[in-house]
Amino acid sequence: MSWETVCKKNDIQEDFPYSAKVDGKEIGVYCIDGEYYALEDVCPHAYALLSQGFVEDGQVECPLHEAVFDIKTGQCLREPADRDLHVYPVRIIEDDVQLQLNSEA
Ligand code: FES
Repeated sequence: MSWETVCKKNDIQEDFPYSAKVDGKEIGVYCIDGEYYALEDVCPHAYALLSQGFVEDGQVECPLHEAVFDIKTGQCLREPADRDLHVYPVRIIEDDVQLQLNSEA
């Protein structure tokens, strides 16, 4: 399993996740209470980038039709989306935010 640097810690704010495009995948990188999380960024309902949605209380709301997901687990909490998001492992090396992209089954 390899790790890939996608951004710096400073690129991410609690209210403003980072939208990364790596190896053709769109991934939203979030910081919640000082911990970092990475989720697939394209909403499974239609096409919207969740990293452009509204972040509050560890959840992100899709900017298009307001589906809600848990940022730590990727769990879908509100329709119209009907499945959970894939969550990518994250690690911090100095200021670099690294993801393990080949973790999908
Ligand atoms: S595109 Fe996200 S809820 Fe419809």
